[in-house]
Amino acid sequence: MSPFQITRTLPKDATGAALRADVLSGLTATPKTLPPKWFYDAHGSELFEQITELPEYYPTRAEREILLDRAGEIAAASGARTLVELGSGSSEKTRHVIDALTGLRAYVPVDVSESALIGAGEALAAERPDLEVHALVADFTAPLTLPDTPGPRLLAFLGGTVGNLLPDERTVFLDSVRALLAPGDALLLGTDLVKDEEVLVRAYDDAAGVTAAFDKNVLSVVNRELGADFDPDAFAHVALWDAENEWIEMRLRSLAEQTVKIRALDLAVDFAAGEELRTEVSAKFREDGVRSELRSAGMELTHWWTDREARFALSLSVVR
Ligand code: SAH
Ligand code: TRP
Repeated sequence: MSPFQITRTLPKDATGAALRADVLSGLTATPKTLPPKWFYDAHGSELFEQITELPEYYPTRAEREILLDRAGEIAAASGARTLVELGSGSSEKTRHVIDALTGLRAYVPVDVSESALIGAGEALAAERPDLEVHALVADFTAPLTLPDTPGPRLLAFLGGTVGNLLPDERTVFLDSVRALLAPGDALLLGTDLVKDEEVLVRAYDDAAGVTAAFDKNVLSVVNRELGADFDPDAFAHVALWDAENEWIEMRLRSLAEQTVKIRALDLAVDFAAGEELRTEVSAKFREDGVRSELRSAGMELTHWWTDREARFALSLSVVR
């Protein structure tokens, strides 16, 4: 009997129709874009773990501090028997919540990165043979079917990943989260907060260049999966603060005029010198905004906790 199960709802490689469709629509649009979920192949997941340890990248440390301080309160308020986590990655910080939830029976990590799920799931299952660990390789922006495990459920979405969705996508996403839950279930949401521009930009453009390598990894994914010939060195990583939208925008700037061929799409894409491709936004939040977005989705914020420097917030909300 193995306590660790993995269910794939995505094609095993990223050569599926979804990547083709996203690359085709994104690279023929003006301005050009690529959706962020394609950053996370095995190499991308590894680079993200390196980002979490950078001196400039405060969100992981700030969120860990809150989780450590509040795990007991979270456990008492939710009483969850199933913990579902979207975009779970390494599940490293989540361990504090798992350990505090004394009645926990099942942990359901959901991620597009199969390598991250296997690493985290196997380690946890080995340590906690009493826990059913049921990993789902799935896209959390598409409809999800959760395994049949006991309630109440706590759904965790950490790391500020909710900020990587555009406002319209976020509305759809929060409605779908609400639909996965029953009255009395709860949502544990990590949101990075609006703060000094310099601190924000440095977190997404570190001195060692790890974030630049992470951003460019999406080009390597398209090269490998769709037979494209992007030269990652012909692009520069750019992170800028959009004060109106209150988000950091990540872009790849073409350093020269160039044409990139994408064999699997039979497509040639022209870049002007200096032309920018948007790869990701990372929205920053305020308490009122989070509260009202959750309320619109049918959830009531009951707890709002920040780290000591008030850089990052963790909120707990209940389903009405
Ligand atoms: N929760 C972890 C990881 C955050 S990085 C932390 O706080 O450190 C974002 C994670 O979400 C990555 O593991 C990535 O693979 C996953 N991810 C990104 N887009 C996704 C999508 N559309 N569906 C499922 N997982 C996604
Ligand atoms: N969820 C993370 C964030 O918004 C993802 C992330 C961190 C990221 N650094 C990045 C995404 C750099 C793209 C590029 O903080």
